[in-house]
Amino acid sequence: ANNWQGLIETYRSYLPVSEATPVVTLLEGNTPLIPVPSISDRIGRQVKVSIKYDGLNPTGSFKDRGMTMAISKAKEAGAKAVICASTGNTSASAAAYARRAGMRAFVIIPDGYVALGKLAQALLYGAEVIAIKGNFDDALKIVREASENYPVTLVNSVNPYRLQGQKTAAFEVVDVLGDAPDWLCIPVGNAGNITAYWMGFNEYYQVNKCGKLPKMMGFQAAGAAPFISGAPVPNPETMATAIRIGNPANWDKALNAQKSSEGEFNAVTDREILDAYRILASEEGIFCEPASAASVAGLLKVKDRVPANSNIVCVLTGNGLKDPDSAITHSINETYKDIEPNLADVAKVMGF
Ligand code: F0G
Repeated sequence: ANNWQGLIETYRSYLPVSEATPVVTLLEGNTPLIPVPSISDRIGRQVKVSIKYDGLNPTGSFKDRGMTMAISKAKEAGAKAVICASTGNTSASAAAYARRAGMRAFVIIPDGYVALGKLAQALLYGAEVIAIKGNFDDALKIVREASENYPVTLVNSVNPYRLQGQKTAAFEVVDVLGDAPDWLCIPVGNAGNITAYWMGFNEYYQVNKCGKLPKMMGFQAAGAAPFISGAPVPNPETMATAIRIGNPANWDKALNAQKSSEGEFNAVTDREILDAYRILASEEGIFCEPASAASVAGLLKVKDRVPANSNIVCVLTGNGLKDPDSAITHSINETYKDIEPNLADVAKVMGF
């Protein structure tokens, strides 16, 4: 739409809002669905792959879909402060929306494991950032207890309004494709987003907006893959810090999404994640953060099992600018340095 009013206005009839809800929005949502022929070609057999590029939301990740709902409902209830645990993106999004609504935003992060862009955002938006000597799972435990004991509203994805907002991404995919895809490939960390997409597809299916439901294909980093091992991982490790989570809060709901959809959980190594990250940037011009590339890495890993002629959507959850350090460390090219400022010397490095 050329007069996009944000996802609450657009999907109001599907969301738990009323006239009394003060809508806090940065006009999130309406993100593009981009065809990626270099990925389709690697699979072959007339498979069509597109990217739901949710890194183009106002704070650079899909969290804004959940946060417009969570913060609007918190404001409606009279909250003065919100709190979250975060590997970075939730903190940036919570900070932006809470400050826009005039609230304090407390964010608890694992010290040393949040990408630079995310920390920069949270601080400039005006969040009160608390770095703990622990991981995301430790932080989530603390904020759950904090919200039970102090006047602060929890805005992690255990807040049901978060998933309500995030389910609109599935609506947008169907609105563009005209039906659900055959597979929906998605990175899994705390397991809120896979749960939300599954809710969205089901709600659209019930009102005949789509004629089928996708297989939900969830991908975790190999060092942080509790759904693949079947039990929480005490010390999760991966360079994809956004999904460095060992004990997902939405465990049962995500497992239900995988089972009901006849989908799968699979693990991808950091190397496979980085390969997909580089392919997306250097062959498609799509810059995502490493955790996001897990969806494409996973699809490529199981490519021989993709049905011929199928329509696949991979979700890219976060913008590449979130994590400049990873981009510079893992890019194919390096900067030519110390070049004299004249055409002859520049032409020499160009190979002319
Ligand atoms: N991709 C990115 C870029 C993320 O930031 C996250 C989660 C996920 C995927 C996984 O989504 O948790 O719903 O399964 N980030 C959270 C955060 C944990 O704190 O920003 P999920």
